[in-house]
Amino acid sequence: MTAPEEDKLREQALATLTTARDRTTLLTSCVEDPDLTAQHSPLMSPLVWDLAHIGNQEEQWLLRTVAGREAMRPEIDGLYDAFEHPRAERPSLPLLPPDEARRYASEVRGRVMDVLESTAFHGTRLTEAGFAFGMIAQHEQQHDETMLITHQLRKGPQALTAPDPEPVALFTGPAEVLVPGGPFTMGTSTEPWALDNERPAHRREVAPFYIDTTPVTNGAYQAFIEDGGYDDPRWWTSEGWAHIRKNSVTAPLYWNRDGKQWLRRRFGVTEVVPPDEPVLHVCWYEADAYARWAGRRLPTEAEWEKAARHDPAGCRSMRYPWGDADPAPEHANLGQRHLRPAPAGSYPEGESPLGVRQLIGDVWEWTASDFLPYPGFQAFPYKEYSEVFFGPEYKVLRGGAFAVDAVACRGTFRNWDYPIRRQIFSGFRTARSGDV
Ligand code: AVJ
Ligand code: FE
Repeated sequence: MTAPEEDKLREQALATLTTARDRTTLLTSCVEDPDLTAQHSPLMSPLVWDLAHIGNQEEQWLLRTVAGREAMRPEIDGLYDAFEHPRAERPSLPLLPPDEARRYASEVRGRVMDVLESTAFHGTRLTEAGFAFGMIAQHEQQHDETMLITHQLRKGPQALTAPDPEPVALFTGPAEVLVPGGPFTMGTSTEPWALDNERPAHRREVAPFYIDTTPVTNGAYQAFIEDGGYDDPRWWTSEGWAHIRKNSVTAPLYWNRDGKQWLRRRFGVTEVVPPDEPVLHVCWYEADAYARWAGRRLPTEAEWEKAARHDPAGCRSMRYPWGDADPAPEHANLGQRHLRPAPAGSYPEGESPLGVRQLIGDVWEWTASDFLPYPGFQAFPYKEYSEVFFGPEYKVLRGGAFAVDAVACRGTFRNWDYPIRRQIFSGFRTARSGDV
């Protein structure tokens, strides 16, 4: 890498760390302190835990590992180790109170500014192309998404606001597109800040398939509900059926029926469910059941990535559906610019060469696939990011959501969760096998 290329990456690292901290500050200052220390759901940490955990990870990787500095507060490491204390336990820990957590995170950041200035972006794998800085910006943004999930779970009046996406004309394009069969390159070995589970690039054979042009909408999902979808075991896997019966799941999370219409609660406001918006807050079992009811199936992870990255003209994989340019506002609904998905068919400038829309942003998309390592996977820089989660108990989600920042969203980016989870910003699109 040339010196000007390194300088450009250093500027990017600074900009993306700053964007993340601005978001963290907003998410932790829009409510009063009692709302930061309270646990709004046993699924989530108190917001003040996320805040100090963000600072602690940054201290451990950038100050201690990269710069070789002494621990600032070694006694708190255990409190903010996600593996030592499950989320449900975190409110009862002697956590740093809000002001101390803020001070700690900002002291770490102040010192990181010097380290960023003085660290060569080459020489070790951790600092190559500024990877450690990119990783830490992604980590903070991932927790900003986690904190947004907590805000959505929180009862009480609205604390966060954002403008709605631009209204668009109802999408009238084809409902699905054919992705031709053949090999494509999945994953990456060149994206400098890609995380370990996205690596390495490898060839995958994918049979021809059709995929929905847009994510499944609330309106389409309502048709499944009205058709008795939640009462018909034919559409559900046996685990899915057992789960929805036991937990009385009858509609997406946050939905409530009011006479003939569906209402939803979104960041403290109750509103009519908009029919043309991608459905949100469904679990994998619901997505899978809907697809079966529709005579279709969820795409595999490889199918999803081929739809998102394959360029039929160039026979290569692109970084994003629209090409190799970094995401801009006209491409996708990312970065908590809006606090909801945009209507299906939005972002024509973000469509893939085959015409698939909204693969990036809006809603995380459940895939049919378990979270497994790619051939040649190597845990880096720590096993607890990905490796300890590989296995059939987690399903892969792709594409990011309105809640995700561009730094933590790529055509290759992989997210995962349990198939019962739906507090996350999850939706889906469906697929079917093509004729050979
Ligand atoms: C990749 C979203 C599943 O939140 O559990 C944050 C990201 N890893 N801190 C999570 C993560 C460590 C992770 N997910
Ligand atoms: Fe974390």
